[in-house]
Parts: sequence; C-alpha cells; structure tokens
Amino acid sequence: MLKTPLIAVSYKTYAEATGRKALELTKKIESAAKDYDYTVAVVPNLTDMKTVAESTELPVFAQHIDPYMPGGHTGSVSAEMIREAGAVGTMINHSEKRMLLADIDASIKRAKELGLEAMVCTNNVDVTGAVAALNPTYVAIEPPELIGGDISVSTARPEVVSGSVDVVKRINPEVKVLCGAGVKNKVDVEKSMELGAKGVLLASGIVKAKDPEAVMRSLLEGLH
Ligand code: G3P
Repeated sequence: MLKTPLIAVSYKTYAEATGRKALELTKKIESAAKDYDYTVAVVPNLTDMKTVAESTELPVFAQHIDPYMPGGHTGSVSAEMIREAGAVGTMINHSEKRMLLADIDASIKRAKELGLEAMVCTNNVDVTGAVAALNPTYVAIEPPELIGGDISVSTARPEVVSGSVDVVKRINPEVKVLCGAGVKNKVDVEKSMELGAKGVLLASGIVKAKDPEAVMRSLLEGLH
C-alpha cells in the first residue's frame, strides 16, 4: 500500500495535461516530489496513462474503471487494462464520472482482486459513510460545488472533511480519508491535515498553474 500522507494530482481532460504536455507536467511534479519523503501520485487521462507510467517513478492512478471482467464491453475500461498500462490504483466515482452504488462496490472488488488501490470519491459525509462500508483503500471527499474553484474544501466546508474523518473512524477505520476541491496552496494542505485527512486530491491548482513545480513544492511543504 502507498505510504500516507499522499498528494494525488489529477490531469482530468485538461488540454494543459494531455499528450506531450502530460509528460512535461509529470516531469515537473516528479522534480518537486523527489525532494520530499511523501507520496505523490499522478492521475493522467486514460489514453496518456501508459506513456506517463513508463516515463515516471511516481505512482500512477487511472481516473476511472468499469466494474466488468474483460470481454464484450465496448468502450469500457477494465481493471486488467489499467494494471497492464502501469497503474497501481484507480479513482472510482469521481463527481464528474458518477457511478451506481452497486457498480462502485463491484469496481472496488475488481481493483482489489488485481492488487490495485481503490480511491473512491464521495460528495458528502453520508456518501462517505456508505462508501467506507465497501472497504476501498481511500475515500476522497470532494464537495462538487467547490471543484475547480478557488476556495478549498478545508476553508469553505471544513465540517465535511472532519465529518468524513469521523464517520470513517466509526464505520471502517482501515480506510484512509483524503479531501479535495479547490486545493491550491500550502495552507489548504495544512488545514486538510489538521482536519484529520491523510492527504489531498487536486487538479486545477497544479494543471493550470504558471509554475506547477513551485506549487507542488508548496503543497508538499504543507504536509510537514
Ligand atoms: O479530482 C480532483 C478534483 O476533482 C479537484 O479538482 O480542480 O478543484 O483541484 P480541483
């Protein structure tokens, strides 16, 4: 299992983090990460994932898997496919890629069968509790209205982070709680850790930054 605290950077489908730019961004993130003893994972888009995984020592996560076995499922992504492409884990149920509860459960099981980490995104404390019972590796709480914005979850909705930490402690303390949405700087990370999170998940704060390497360093300083 990856060591926490952890910072995961999703590239979503941003043009700034697609194709050749995905590789360039990964280099910058890795250059910052190598100076710290913390886990930094990258979450490239699915078509860039294999090339990114071959280019970096950083752990790579997929942005999504479907709950199916390999076979007749045109357009889907299996756990086998992402493992073959070099991923060590996958996001599941991101707010921009929501899934049914039964499919979240099956996707977590498929990931775990193949030794992959399962990072399940949740949108509120109740959903965090429901997902914790399914025993993923991580839950990542992200209030959807704050995603892509400038105010971080730890500032705008601290009770959602601490509430998620509490509910996970009650239901399944093995699960690690991450938080995300609007995370941009060292203070956002510090506050998240104070609220009991084991790391953060972010995208635009790095992908759209003028100097992603400098931002990455400041986020890592927040874990100190
Ligand atoms: O997957 C992480 C994400 O949803 C947070 O996005 O842009 O608010 O950091 P952002």
